[in-house]
Amino acid sequence: MKKKMLSLLLTGVMAMGVLAGCGSATSGGSSKSSSKSDSKKSSGGEITVGFAQVGAESDWRTACTKSVKDTFTSKNGYKLIFDDAQQKQENQITAIRNFIQQDVDYIVLDPVTETGWDTVLQEAKDAGIPVIVVDRMVDVSDDSLYTMRIGSDFKAEGNKACDWLKQYADAQGVAQTDIKIVDIQGTIGASAQIGRTEGLNDAVKANGWKLVAQQTGEFTQAKGQEVMESILKQNSDFNVVYCENDNEAFGAIDALEAAGKKVGTDLKNGDVMVMSFDSTKAGLTDVKDGKITLDTECNPLYGPKLDEIIKNLEAGKKVEKSQFIDEAMFAHDDTVKSVSAAGESGDAKNYDVTVVTDDVISGRSY
Ligand code: AHR
Repeated sequence: MKKKMLSLLLTGVMAMGVLAGCGSATSGGSSKSSSKSDSKKSSGGEITVGFAQVGAESDWRTACTKSVKDTFTSKNGYKLIFDDAQQKQENQITAIRNFIQQDVDYIVLDPVTETGWDTVLQEAKDAGIPVIVVDRMVDVSDDSLYTMRIGSDFKAEGNKACDWLKQYADAQGVAQTDIKIVDIQGTIGASAQIGRTEGLNDAVKANGWKLVAQQTGEFTQAKGQEVMESILKQNSDFNVVYCENDNEAFGAIDALEAAGKKVGTDLKNGDVMVMSFDSTKAGLTDVKDGKITLDTECNPLYGPKLDEIIKNLEAGKKVEKSQFIDEAMFAHDDTVKSVSAAGESGDAKNYDVTVVTDDVISGRSY
């Protein structure tokens, strides 16, 4: 209630032309949100967080939801309002409007796609509610529409996978021009798809690889299988399937094997090699078994990180506007020991490649 009154007051002040801008790009929220935080702290109440989640399309997504739900508990001082958008942006927009109506303290948005957020995020800003963007990114005309974003460097993920493939082909004695790739993309317009596809497209040009087919599998196992089946009917002359997440890889492997293809790690001897992203336990089990040769990690464990960010905002501390999380790489063998890749977060860095063993798998929490 206090926040609404403050919001009205600020609107009035702005109308009088007295207020010359509020909040910094990397600050711990606007002056309105700081007041809201203060009122919560002094009343000793729970912090209400509305989480607009993408959906439940993948094992990765399930792990992400669990991490958030396990963190934002009443024991930890939170009330979580969770919304599953079933991979539809319009559902996320409705959820955000509902969160505004319910006067939540924070909105956490994992956007299905990057564009189309300006109007609803302006509504959240007008209501004085800080928006934290998580995992994927929003592409808005005014960065002050959200407080901060924490997520993956998806361009780096794509570049890492492609540098690995280049080195792997060299080590196996396969000419770069003999690499023929099928790309099963993620949901078109999602940051995870954009970065991973861009990384591949750049490497195709740079290395003289052939891109045989490129189609969305919407990050699901069922669609990954369907798309692979349909591509196999049109052209089966390829030796690499670049799946933009683990669930697509599971579907693609089923389709390849049903069509009589040998899925494996030996490019030189005619195996079809599957590459993937996420590094879920099920994905890494396929890596150990040689069904997936490389799995580039995408970290879904955002709950504790979001908690830390909100605690800092509550304390009025500055929070970096853009934060990237650390992500590893997992391979079937040690042919390629490390890769070098650049991304959104800056210049090229070296990343070690971990060979998957039973211990690696059992040490994973998702
Ligand atoms: O945005 C992260 C991606 O979305 C993960 O790679 C995928 O599994 C999920 O659906």
